Amino acid sequence: MKVFLTGGAGYIGSHILTELLARGWDACVYDDFSNSSPKALDRVAQLSNRQFERVTGDIRDKTALKDALQAFQPDAVIHLAGLKAVGESTEKPLHYFEVNVQGSIALLEAMEETGVDHVVFSSSATVYGTPKYVPQDEAHPIAPESPYGRSKAFVEDVMRDWITSGKGKSAVILRYFNPAGAHASGQIGEDPNDIPNNLMPFITQVAVGRRKELAVFGDDYETRDGTGERDYIHVIDLARAHLAALDYAVGFKGHDTINIGTGETASVLEMVAAFEDSSGQKIPYRITDRRSGDVPIYLADPTKARDVLGWSAEFTLEDMCGSAWHWQSSNPEGYEG
Ligand code: NAD
Ligand code: UFG
Repeated sequence: MKVFLTGGAGYIGSHILTELLARGWDACVYDDFSNSSPKALDRVAQLSNRQFERVTGDIRDKTALKDALQAFQPDAVIHLAGLKAVGESTEKPLHYFEVNVQGSIALLEAMEETGVDHVVFSSSATVYGTPKYVPQDEAHPIAPESPYGRSKAFVEDVMRDWITSGKGKSAVILRYFNPAGAHASGQIGEDPNDIPNNLMPFITQVAVGRRKELAVFGDDYETRDGTGERDYIHVIDLARAHLAALDYAVGFKGHDTINIGTGETASVLEMVAAFEDSSGQKIPYRITDRRSGDVPIYLADPTKARDVLGWSAEFTLEDMCGSAWHWQSSNPEGYEG
């Protein structure tokens, strides 16, 4: 299979790329490197001992997308390119809609004009908003609470309408829960540009001495220990879900929306303890106020992924912590270190 991977140099994209190449599939990465390093792609090529196409381009640039699609002639597209910081999206909503929504429309137009019929899209559990019930299945009401979340929900709708309009097309929308961990080699991993927003990269940066302590955002939630619970999913499990989704996408006409999670949660304090066990590093922390916009819990019902994709998560929380530590301790300053 030939796969066109937008945002392929990023955290999740670079892991998907290793899995695609390991399966013997061909790939073309399309990325503007605004939140990633070309070094990630060099590492993947070295790890995989395989080459792949690379195009530097903006997801809003339909002409560049058409040229790249025309040249590569993919069987399917995985669409990850976009912006993902919830807090930033409240400060720059128009920019988020422009990149995430307009960028996705440019991609679909370019696909239509070059005869590429299948797409797998990276959506998020954030489209559910504050959970009305857990575990959250795909029928859970959609009520995103940030411009970022609304941009994902909007693109989901755009894709469904696009599919409904044409023959022989398919879109598989994956709603990721909380990706964590890294490739077992320690060669690729999560490398945020700025102060990490997410829990795992913050913990690994404390462990490596780049930050003094972790702020635990609230211990008065109605959860097991009062701290936020999340359904963490190993990034390699998530990558493999994309391969299963591609197989599904090329074999059917229509659209489908599928949660990608484990069906289990860890609290912030449980994550800290698991990381300390896996790494042997002490993580100093301090309980602070709640972070605005946080929900007590995200928990996936992953039944549909198992039934439809034949996929379920295999790695444990310990695997996520151990691999994240291997990556960060081997690359304390990330790719640019
Ligand atoms: P990331 O920032 O590491 O990767 C995104 C990639 O897209 C980067 O390589 C970046 O350079 C590229 N990009 C950004 N703007 C672009 C533009 N205008 N043109 C071309 N390329 C552009 O993020 P990630 O964690 O790997 O996430 C990948 C996708 O998964 C995103 O769409 C994100 O919204 C979604 N997602 C992520 C999470 C998470 O917690 N990491 C959860 C749910 C969904
Ligand atoms: N947390 C801390 N301290 C930190 C960072 C996080 O206590 O420094 C806590 C949060 O309060 C939350 C938990 O750790 O309880 C997880 O927080 P993350 O920021 O890692 O993840 P979120 O669930 O808030 O959000 C992430 C992505 C969203 C995505 C969502 C579901 O940032 O874009 O997962 O996929 F929508």
